[in-house]
Amino acid sequence: MPKVLIADNLSPLAVEVFQQRGIEADVRTGLKPDELVAAAADYDGIAVRSASKVTAAVLEAGVTGKLRIVGRAGIGVDNIDVPAATRLGVVVMNTPGGNSVTTAEHAISLMLALARQIPEADRSTQAGKWEKSKFMGVELTGKTLGVIGCGNIGAIVADRAIGLRMKVVAYDPFLSPDRADDLGVEKVELDELLKRSDIVTLHVPLTDQTRGIIDAEALAKCKKGVRIINCARGGLVVEADLKAALDSGQVAGAALDVFEQEPAKENALFGTPNLVCTPHLGASTAEAQEKVAVQVAEQMADFLVSGAVSNA
Ligand code: MLT
Repeated sequence: MPKVLIADNLSPLAVEVFQQRGIEADVRTGLKPDELVAAAADYDGIAVRSASKVTAAVLEAGVTGKLRIVGRAGIGVDNIDVPAATRLGVVVMNTPGGNSVTTAEHAISLMLALARQIPEADRSTQAGKWEKSKFMGVELTGKTLGVIGCGNIGAIVADRAIGLRMKVVAYDPFLSPDRADDLGVEKVELDELLKRSDIVTLHVPLTDQTRGIIDAEALAKCKKGVRIINCARGGLVVEADLKAALDSGQVAGAALDVFEQEPAKENALFGTPNLVCTPHLGASTAEAQEKVAVQVAEQMADFLVSGAVSNA
């Protein structure tokens, strides 16, 4: 009987799926890095979310035993050493789509929170200040949203923003003109997006091409008073440059769910006015976590039972 290790907090539905497919599933969350290395060889597969780091050492130890597959319940595989897995012949799968709606909804939530300064107004009101004139907002209707990356998540953000009667411009080298038409977005180059957008939201993975895509130079190309939202990956926005742009007023507000260093328990941006932060909650809804857990378990089971590979 194949055996998998569930190393992070996944919905219990994952265990049910594995068991229904004749696969033994051990839930052992919170393993220290050396404990994960020591455990790896006992399992045919390891399922993770984002807490466990599947390093080259884990994979090298794993292939001395049974390890053949690592499944990520989520989209980004930053916590898995994919080149090492490829070298060692270990399949890496993710679950694109499972948390797209939820992440897109978080981006829209942050956009509304920024537009109306909701977190700051909440703090002030609950402190008994009743500062009605302090919190003048901006209306979103008729404003231009720049979507950087119009894949699974970006496309849903665009759809919801159009529902809010915003105009959407999108930068994505992989977006075909037909798809852009279907989505109702205008496909533009990055500089054009920066120049025209009232709000910019990021929905690209962190790669050598996208790292620092929002830096001082990019921010200087934006309209004065632009708002920036990042629910994708820390490292896309250069935090020191964003801080300077918030301080100078070039950027009117920013909402960050992801940070250069996570967990972000300290950050030079913290305390900056007009900054809204959440602790990488993009995918954190009950619905999304059930979907990604079931999806990763089904995909891993397919591979372990019949060799079928999807989303690798
Ligand atoms: C993802 O890559 O799926 C998201 O960032 C969610 C997460 O890491 O929890």
